[in-house]
Parts: sequence; structure tokens; C-alpha cells
Amino acid sequence: MNSANSPLTDAALIEALAFYAEMGVDEAVCEAPIDRTTAPPPPKVVPFKPRAAKPAAPPPVAEPKRDYVSEARQRAQNAQDLDALHAALVGFEDVPLRAGAKQAVFADGDPAADLMVIGEAPGRDEDRIGKPFVGRSGELLDRMLAAIGRARGESDPKKGAYIGNVIPYRPLQNRTPADDEVAVFLPFIERQIELAAPKVVLCIGNVPAKHLMQASTGIMRYRGTWSSLTFGNQTVAALASFHPAFLLRSPDKKREAWRDLLALEAKLKELT
Ligand code: URA
Repeated sequence: MNSANSPLTDAALIEALAFYAEMGVDEAVCEAPIDRTTAPPPPKVVPFKPRAAKPAAPPPVAEPKRDYVSEARQRAQNAQDLDALHAALVGFEDVPLRAGAKQAVFADGDPAADLMVIGEAPGRDEDRIGKPFVGRSGELLDRMLAAIGRARGESDPKKGAYIGNVIPYRPLQNRTPADDEVAVFLPFIERQIELAAPKVVLCIGNVPAKHLMQASTGIMRYRGTWSSLTFGNQTVAALASFHPAFLLRSPDKKREAWRDLLALEAKLKELT
């Protein structure tokens, strides 16, 4: 031990060593001596640095609202034939009404026929089978067509009929589709008419009369009205009449429906 740095005298240090020896202390614990007579160095003070605050998360960016109608127009316009249009419709995913339906119901009959019949939307049977008008109202429609010498299975364009719907997916509970739901699918049925290019279109029920023919009144007053539809390069004569589902419930209206069928037959004869 170096007495030079100690405040104790050499004599006091020797006395302390003698005391340690007497107490049985016979070896040093550390390699280097520790002078316990001087004050320990002050603890190292590390200056307090406040932790930088975490940057606030950016506010959530609102997803831009999907413009179904523009997408539908684009898809429908890009389709150059009916098969491509059908594929474009099936590829149009996560759209209104689709989640509740089993499949898209696109068309039945011969697209070369000079008559096209357009209904509202598939019901339960159509949703299951994938073709328009296959249930009870379809049976009545087939009888109505037969009355003017037409059948959907006929390959002669003068005897056949091509059948579609404004809406390709079954609305749950067969409810009437809302206007904004119709707007999403309108570009498809309009393009379907343009590509099939029939001579005459028969619009059955309120929905096709309102959305394709711009009927200003309900079908009760509008039935029997003719107008011309223009889609792209095609202009086609269109007649509004009752929906067969309505005729099943109101058979007394068949007389007016029959008048419409005769007018339709006459127009087809005139144009073909
Ligand atoms: N009603 C319609 O309007 N379309 C169908 O396909 C079936 C029933």
C-alpha cells in the first residue's frame, strides 16, 4: 500500500495492518489496492435525453369509391362479340347483387334471331340453371312466342328468339332491382343488343321499359308503346309489354298482351 496518498501516518497504517493480521486477514482480495480512506469518485452523471416521440401514424387514406358504371361501360365496349361480352360480365367481380347469386344469367336462344326479348332479372330457377326464363314465367313466355310462330330453340332467324335480362344476377327474394343496381349492368345489356343486332326488341315488364326505353310511366300505361333504341351503330324498334309473371297473377291482362304480340308479329313481318 502506498502511504504517500493516504491521510494516515505510516505508523497508523502499520497499526491497521497489524490489526488485520490479528483478525485473520492474510491476503489481499483485489489485484490492485483500494484506498478506502479517500472519498469514492462521484458517480458518472449521464445527461437525461428524452426519447424522441414516435412520429404520429398518417391519417388513413380513404379508398377511392369504385365507379362500377364506368368500369361496366369500359368492359362492355371492349367486347367485340357476345362470347367476349359474356366473359367480360363474368369477369366483372365484386359487383352489386353478385354475392347473393349462384351465377350470371346471360342469354338463351339464337343470337341471330331477328327478335330479342328482354326481361328484368333472373329468379330462383334461372339462377340455378343459368338461363333466362326457365321457370313458370318462362313457360308462359314460350307459349306467347309460340302464338306468333317463334321459339327460342329455333335456328331460323325468322322463327327464333334471343332472350336476355337487364340484370344478370338474381336479386335476393326476387325484389325489384334498385336504379343504381340497374345502372351498373345497363352497359352490358345495351352492348348485348348492339352485338346481337335484332330487328325488334320486346321489353317485358317495368325494368326494361324504364331503363332501356326511358318509359316515363309505369308498364300499366306504357305497354303497347313503340320506341327506337340506339346503341352504338344499331337502331332497333322496341315494344313494351307485360311481364309473363304479371300475366300469371293477372290473367285478365292477357288480352292486352295478345294485342302487343300481334303488333310485334306485324312489325317483324314488316322489317324482315
Ligand atoms: N323474370 C325475368 O324477368 N327474367 C327471367 O329470366 C326470369 C323471370
